Order: sequence, then C-alpha cells, then structure tokens
Amino acid sequence: MLFPEGVLIDGVTGAVSPATGRYVKKLSTLRDLYETPPLVDAYLAEHGDVDAYEVVEYRPDGSDVCFGTTIMAPGRIGSEYFLTRGHYHARSDRGETYYTQSGEGLLLLHSRSGACSVLEMRAGVCAFIPPAWAHRSVNTGPGKLVFVWTCTSDAGHDYGEIATRGMRQRAVERDGRPTIVPNQNYRD
Ligand code: PA5
Ligand code: NI
Repeated sequence: MLFPEGVLIDGVTGAVSPATGRYVKKLSTLRDLYETPPLVDAYLAEHGDVDAYEVVEYRPDGSDVCFGTTIMAPGRIGSEYFLTRGHYHARSDRGETYYTQSGEGLLLLHSRSGACSVLEMRAGVCAFIPPAWAHRSVNTGPGKLVFVWTCTSDAGHDYGEIATRGMRQRAVERDGRPTIVPNQNYRD
C-alpha cells in the first residue's frame, strides 16, 4: 500500500527530501546538441567536464504520479545557453508541468505538426506542457535554474527523435539578451 508523504523541496538548491533517485548530465554527453559542437570541446578544455544539470526524483514504486526537480547550471557554448536534452514523452497522451522555483530560463516546445512555443521560466511560473509537445529547458540567467516537474509515472521519455532531428528553435544571447532563433540544423 502507498502511504502519504510530505516531501521537502528546496527551491534554491533543488534538493528533494526524501528522494528516490537522481542523475547528473555532464556537458560532454550533450556535445552534439549544440549548434557548434567544437565550441563544446573548447569549453571542456577550459573548464573541464562540468555538471550541466541534475535531476532529482520522487518516484514511489507503484504510484501513478511522480515529481522532482531539475537543477541547471548557468553557462553558454558560444552564444547558445546551456540546455537539457529535450524529449517527447514515450506516451503521446501524457503532459507535464514545470514549476520554476528560482533562476531564469526559457522552455522551448514544439509539436509534430510544426507548432512552436516558448514559455518564460522564472519563479512562480508554472508551465503547462501538453501531451505530444517536445520540450527542452535552457538556463538564460547568471545563476542556477531550478524547477519542479510533475508528471504521470508512465509518461516515459522518448529522446531519439530530438537527438536525431533537433529542436526547431534555439535560445541564444544576442545583444546581451536571450533571443529565439530557428535551428538551422533541424532535420524536417
Ligand atoms: O520529465 C521531464 O520533462 C524532466 O524531468 C526532464 O527529464 C529533465 O528536466 C531533464 O531533461 P531531459 O530529460 O530532456 O534531459
Ligand atoms: Ni518531460
């Protein structure tokens, strides 16, 4: 039987207590997602293989819902902000929410029909990600970006399509400001 539990979430560090799991994504594993991968190599040579983001989960066995935090480091590869892999859910009838706790970012989304959307990520904004929309977060601020995601446990992640085709949009710094540009490398 499942029992109720109050889970403490620190909106600044992203710590989840108790948590059931966590993982860290190193920048080197995200190399080919960036517009200019050789710039990632240069970044790695200068800074080492930094933790680009961390995901901490509360995913109780047998539960239909789960939640957790994503903690993204600040940084840029050339003009492109640090990003997550991006994915569709394996189940195309499962959405998600991203409730930003601290930091600043943008949530890039697109649907298979080609519709695009960009949502602001800042403390207090809870983004609704409808089913069948690919989503990627980018940290556009000077500090960590921390958000709480909530999903159904059976949603799953489908990374393949975004890994091979890319997202339709990129978030880059232009004239000191976050700007959305079309992804020139997107494979239609
Ligand atoms: O389920 C989600 O959408 C999030 O928990 C993401 O998995 C998390 O933000 C990391 O992004 P990605 O899974 O695209 O690497
Ligand atoms: Ni998701």
